[in-house]
Amino acid sequence: MKSPKELLHQFTEKLSQIKALEELETLEIGYLGRNGLINQQLKNIKEIEASERKTFGQEVNAFKQQVQDGLSSKRSEILKAKNNKKTIDTTLPATAYPKGSLHLVTYAIEEISNIFEKIGFIRMSYPEIEWEFFSFEALNMPSDHPARDDFETFFMDHTPHEEHGKMVLTPHTSSGQHREMRRLGKPPIRMINIAKTYRPNWDASHVPMFHQFEGLCVDKRINITHLKGTIDYFAKQFFGEDRETRLRPFHFQFTEPSFEVDITCDICQGTGKVNGEKCRLCKQGWLELGGTGMVHPNVLSAGGIDPDEYTGWAFGFGVERVMMMRPGVGLSNMRLLYDGDIRVLEQF
Ligand code: PHE
Repeated sequence: MKSPKELLHQFTEKLSQIKALEELETLEIGYLGRNGLINQQLKNIKEIEASERKTFGQEVNAFKQQVQDGLSSKRSEILKAKNNKKTIDTTLPATAYPKGSLHLVTYAIEEISNIFEKIGFIRMSYPEIEWEFFSFEALNMPSDHPARDDFETFFMDHTPHEEHGKMVLTPHTSSGQHREMRRLGKPPIRMINIAKTYRPNWDASHVPMFHQFEGLCVDKRINITHLKGTIDYFAKQFFGEDRETRLRPFHFQFTEPSFEVDITCDICQGTGKVNGEKCRLCKQGWLELGGTGMVHPNVLSAGGIDPDEYTGWAFGFGVERVMMMRPGVGLSNMRLLYDGDIRVLEQF
């Protein structure tokens, strides 16, 4: 029988030659396994003189401890060498880490603000919870006026204000017109109000919470050519130089005359035909952008501006709408924007 000293010598010798984890495992089984050397030693205890058994037992246990320590320090040595190899290999491609991005609507708002700020418009964000007065009365729509029905509205469960009426989730950004007139006190006004708006609709092109951007320009001798020029400028900046716009007569209470703005369709370039067939997107060459017109004299007066001295125009377009109309976006359902599905955002 080998002495514990000899056994330790043999073990240290074997351990020093080991380079890989698999070899280390084999060695471990050879010593610490059920039929390993240490257990074999312990079985031998019966052959030992009774008086020496205690010392023998202690020696075997001490040896076992040395084997365990030796194995574990070898294991960390091997692992460390492996890791070191990894960190110094500078030729490996870097690991990509997940990167966030902005929501499509946030991008659109940024871009719209920039386009208008370039031509001197001041960006505002007027309240999304409004008094009826700012959304209707101040815009030439008295409380019994049927035109109020065109702006289906969410009412807040709140005590009405003595002069301003009920509290509403603002159905359009036009309430910002009156607020801006009051804020500045007098023209010139060049405002772009971008804010959340609410109407109870839910289908492929409507969500109950959406965003509008409202342009308002009031000064001396402002006329319809300034309106057309500004809308053209926006259309070319946002949609592309080749796009044209047109004004189509319409009715709003707060503008006179009023129009709807159309832009040439990017699929058929305004012709209404693709390879001799009716264009499937627009059917007649034009897509609707939103409403506009010359600010009604009553609206100017309500805002404390003399309509004999000043004139102005306003427009209100949907942010989600213009963004979805942009060539290449290819989003056919507005509700996808607010489903919170990360796969939609990851595509942009
Ligand atoms: N407020 C109108 C709407 O939401 C749009 C509009 C704004 C029309 C300004 C004319 C002038 O439909």
